[in-house]
Amino acid sequence: MRKMTRLSVTTLLLAVPALGLAETTAGASDEARALIQQFASTLQSELVSAMKAGGPTNAVEVCQDKAPAIARTLSQTSEWEIGRTSLKTRNPDNAPDAWETRILEQFESLKAAGNEVAGMSYAAVLENDGQKVYRYMQAIPTQEVCLTCHGSDLDPALAQTLDEAYPEDQARGYSAGDIRGAFTLTKPL
Ligand code: HEC
Repeated sequence: MRKMTRLSVTTLLLAVPALGLAETTAGASDEARALIQQFASTLQSELVSAMKAGGPTNAVEVCQDKAPAIARTLSQTSEWEIGRTSLKTRNPDNAPDAWETRILEQFESLKAAGNEVAGMSYAAVLENDGQKVYRYMQAIPTQEVCLTCHGSDLDPALAQTLDEAYPEDQARGYSAGDIRGAFTLTKPL
């Protein structure tokens, strides 16, 4: 039983480039990874300095304003559309589409089968209204620092700020090592 899970897992982890597109897609995956690296490190340093300067309640604003702003800038300066998504979103604007939901669920199965969250990724060439697009997703592990705002035991003042800003917040109750969500990138081919 467990063996079978592993097998489907391995198959899934392989990118499935359409015939003849292998080179394009290998380059595209590298581009996607570089953009994610930029997104993650910019956001993380903004987050850490905002937490130091004014505590987590102050840092909520950074996540609210800076995360979409960084994503926008990266999208405008590349051919990619870049964002973050999750099966349990804080901001409903980040809700996954059907394809993203499927991949997020596959990441959860991979984790349940004992795989490391860091480095889980999936790439595919899809056709969208006759236009070929390359899509790439990479899982985001929950770290200790994330639990201040995504854990179970939130500071009451912080919880109130979050309630006001995100009345539909589902992104609480996480533990370290959980899959918080994924970076999701798309570019036309
Ligand atoms: C200071 C509070 C705070 C901390 C700390 C924090 N987040 Fe968030 N997170 C937020 C807010 C606020 C949003 C909603 C952002 C928006 O409006 O797009 C969010 C959204 C997200 C999203 C987008 C999906 C969604 O739920 O809408 C991901 C993924 C995410 N956070 C991951 C993390 C990870 C990983 C860490 C730790 C490295 C982390 N967060 C730390 C407050 C925080």
